[in-house]
Amino acid sequence: MKGMLNLKDILVLGIESSCDETSVAVVKNGREVLSNIIDTQIKIHEQFGGVVPEIASRNHIEAISKVTKLALEKAKVTLKDIDVIAPTYGPGLVGALLVGVSYGRGLAFALNKPLVGVNHLEGHISANYITYPDLKPPFLCMLTSGGNTQIVHVKDYCDMEVIGKTRDDAIGEAFDKVARVIGLTYPGGPKIDKLAQQGKATIEFPKTHFENLDFSFSGIKTAVLNYLHKNPEVSKPDLCMSFEKAVTEVLTENVTKAIKQTKLDKVVLAGGVSANTHIREEFQKLGKELNIKIYEPDLKLCTDNAAMIASAGYYRYINGDLSENTLNAVPNLKIGE
Ligand code: KG4
Repeated sequence: MKGMLNLKDILVLGIESSCDETSVAVVKNGREVLSNIIDTQIKIHEQFGGVVPEIASRNHIEAISKVTKLALEKAKVTLKDIDVIAPTYGPGLVGALLVGVSYGRGLAFALNKPLVGVNHLEGHISANYITYPDLKPPFLCMLTSGGNTQIVHVKDYCDMEVIGKTRDDAIGEAFDKVARVIGLTYPGGPKIDKLAQQGKATIEFPKTHFENLDFSFSGIKTAVLNYLHKNPEVSKPDLCMSFEKAVTEVLTENVTKAIKQTKLDKVVLAGGVSANTHIREEFQKLGKELNIKIYEPDLKLCTDNAAMIASAGYYRYINGDLSENTLNAVPNLKIGE
């Protein structure tokens, strides 16, 4: 269903349940966050060393009504004031996604409001529209999250192309795996970040390079695990910093190539791993070196939240991309589909 819509103030109710955060937000005109309630299940999954899908789904079901009520209260609005219902429909865990999708479908049907299914990855990119009210496409996005590592050419709000991607592990998986073997609990990324700040990059880990803009992180991950096995007394902070240095160099090398290819002068970071201190510092240095602007989302918008979903939902809505009330979860949804 395409067509111009009347551009008055538009309030979007974003719903996020793709993994282990149940989140509901109210966002005005894609940029102004009126509320963003996040109920995280990290403590529940920590004891298992990772997210247990069935437990995640059950907890989303318990949390979603309460989180929605809080989001509306905090925004000082009622369901009647909401213009669009925008749940994440992929990628993610199927049972977890189905909770948000079904809840969103139910609300849209009962209230007779438009439903807009949102791609979670577009949500991560859109976190930057909230942090930087003047940011507009086109730009390059370095998307680094728990499940994805991609360079995305964002040509317009609803027109994007993946120009480089990981051939094996996502960068967040590598962080979490390295953390686990050095005894840090899930999610390991933020804990590696902290430890690395007290360390030095004393170890050189091998990196895999490709002709095109693709990535590989499994080699670095395995090299770290082997090094630890052979040198159990190694300084953990130094190990973490050396690991971060290796993965960051892989990111900055490919982004440099992508800038040359596309001639774009804006690079936007997105996804949970973009909260990383070393990665942020190195991208700022790269920006100065190449005279381009680097955008980093607000730390609290890097990891999963519904405000970023509502922002992406807004741009899909004004583009006329409405979903049918048969919207289903798509666990392996890609950008550009
Ligand atoms: O984007 P996200 O919340 O989930 C997905 O949509 O995939 O990303 C979660 C990932 C986890 O792997 C977590 O360890 C990592 O982001 N992460 C970090 C940091 N904060 C979260 N990795 C490195 N440094 C951080 N500060």
